[in-house]
Amino acid sequence: MESKTSPHEIDEKKEATITSERKLAHLQICLEHDVQGRSITTGLEDISFVHHATTDLNMKDIDLSVDIFGKKLRLPMIISGMTGGHAFAQQLNDYLSQVAEKTQIGMGVGSQRAALEDAQARESFEIVKNNAPTTLKIGNIGAGQIVDGLTSTDLKNIVSMINADAVAFHFNPLQESIQPEGDTNLHGLIDRVSQLINVSPTPIIAKEVGSGFSRFDIDRIMKSGFAGIDIQGVGGTSWAGVESIRAEVPKYKKTGEVFWDWGLPTVISTILAKESFSGHIIGSGGVRNGLEVAKLLALGADAAGMAIPFLFTAQDHSIEKSLKYIEEIAYEIRLACFLTGSQNIEELKSVPLIISGKTAELLRAFGIDPREYSSRPN
Ligand SMILES: Cc1cc2nc3c(=O)[nH]c(=O)nc-3n(C[C@H](O)[C@H](O)[C@H](O)COP(=O)(O)O)c2cc1C
Repeated sequence: MESKTSPHEIDEKKEATITSERKLAHLQICLEHDVQGRSITTGLEDISFVHHATTDLNMKDIDLSVDIFGKKLRLPMIISGMTGGHAFAQQLNDYLSQVAEKTQIGMGVGSQRAALEDAQARESFEIVKNNAPTTLKIGNIGAGQIVDGLTSTDLKNIVSMINADAVAFHFNPLQESIQPEGDTNLHGLIDRVSQLINVSPTPIIAKEVGSGFSRFDIDRIMKSGFAGIDIQGVGGTSWAGVESIRAEVPKYKKTGEVFWDWGLPTVISTILAKESFSGHIIGSGGVRNGLEVAKLLALGADAAGMAIPFLFTAQDHSIEKSLKYIEEIAYEIRLACFLTGSQNIEELKSVPLIISGKTAELLRAFGIDPREYSSRPN
């Protein structure tokens, strides 16, 4: 019998192809261009620990594990959501999920929109649940799809596709505004988000993609019932930058350049979240080494997330490079604990910190006295 495809199905297929091709272009641009913040930084360079020369710990006994979203991680690290939906993404998800399971760190997947639009794309996500049955897995869907009518059944699908322990709703209004096809009508978003959170089978995380969250956002996030915030502040990968490079229309190319460094630095947004948010905080956006992870933990994060470094370590079709990178970072976090006399991450969270430079200035502008951190007891 001849199979007929309805115009609706053709539209869906076309949409799915566009989504997959866009995700592939993002990967290629991130690998081939410098897309990091230009004149703005995360603020992590303004944070210093106070050195303990008389530390009397046994470095190898320091406990780096953390509990987050119902899972115990061996290290306070999460691979931030990046990929899914096409063959290259499937390979990356394959390597990264093996690495996450082996090292017992958390792993997020990229937007699962492609798999909702096209069942064939599911496999590129399902590989994560098969490779990483025990460690923390975080699903992902964008604000645009929520406004477009994401249903509670879609959300259940997102969860079951990777056996997710939590799902990130990503907020990326800047990135969408640099795409001709971007979702810039976000009317009704917050009401819809609250409704979905109420019926969700897992905790929901509010995630940015490189511009961070303000106090206003954090208040909204609290009131909407989110269980976590994934900061993704400015200073790391710039999504206005990626879209500017991808853009063919001059208007978007130029706007992406102009807004390249837009957002709240990772440190500032993490501190603002710690002030009032009672759920889990993932410190992220431009985190590149273990000392930076340790700084975010000391500022109040429960774990740190990294995206682009893992893309680079996994691109060589081997898990070895990623494993080596994680062990280096683990050693650096351990050393920060050792040199501050912290036996575990809980102790690291309350050590004194010196906050200087532009970050101190910005904190004062937000009415926060940086001396609150330096006056913590040693
Ligand atoms: C290739 C690539 C694809 C990404 N795709 C997604 C995505 O689908 N959903 C999402 O929430 N974030 C996505 N991100 C954003 C990251 O999760 C992260 O928020 C951002 O890159 C900043 O972190 P970084 O400075 O460590 O790269 C992607 C990042 C990269 C590098």
